Amino acid sequence: MRTQRGTTTDAPTLEQLFSVLYKPELKWSEEKIREEIKSGEKDYYLALDNNEIVGAFGISFDDSSAKFGPLAVKDKNRKRGVGSKLLSFAEELARGRGLSRIWCYSLERYNVANFYQNNGWVEERFIQDFWDGQNCFVYAKKL
Ligand SMILES: CC(C)(COP(=O)(O)OP(=O)(O)OC[C@H]1O[C@@H](n2cnc3c(N)ncnc32)[C@H](O)[C@@H]1OP(=O)(O)O)[C@@H](O)C(=O)NCCC(=O)NCCS
Repeated sequence: MRTQRGTTTDAPTLEQLFSVLYKPELKWSEEKIREEIKSGEKDYYLALDNNEIVGAFGISFDDSSAKFGPLAVKDKNRKRGVGSKLLSFAEELARGRGLSRIWCYSLERYNVANFYQNNGWVEERFIQDFWDGQNCFVYAKKL
């Protein structure tokens, strides 16, 4: 598996990958992703296996931490370690910037506590009614 930085031309592919998330049309539309890449607000990376796109994530940085997400792996490529490799890759990006913390919002409905915890992330907060009536976890890892 290799990882490739996404460009504005990848926006339709990224929209498609993130379409499994909650109300993607509000959060991860092609237009929004293209704008985030263009403005440098967020970076996106695609995971490729034999030149086929199997997953992707977004990441943004401030002075003290890296904010991870969204993350999605194509259904047929799950449970093979792709998501964990993308987490490790994102952690390396944060370390490379001298940051000692990476974190993400994760809606309760995603039910991915095991995935983050098995990769050394800890549940930091549980926020009720975070957005659109949805509860949300904050998972984080000290780097
Ligand atoms: C969450 C998600 C990104 C995980 O991606 P993934 O590629 O399946 O992740 P991994 O393969 O690294 O790990 C998933 C599970 O497969 C298991 N696994 C990893 N490699 C495996 C292998 N070779 N054989 C069997 N199981 C394996 C892991 O132990 C892990 O188990 P766990 O969930 O109980 O911890 C993916 O399920 C997804 O895209 N979900 C929909 C979108 C979503 O919820 N995104 C999260 C937003 S916060």
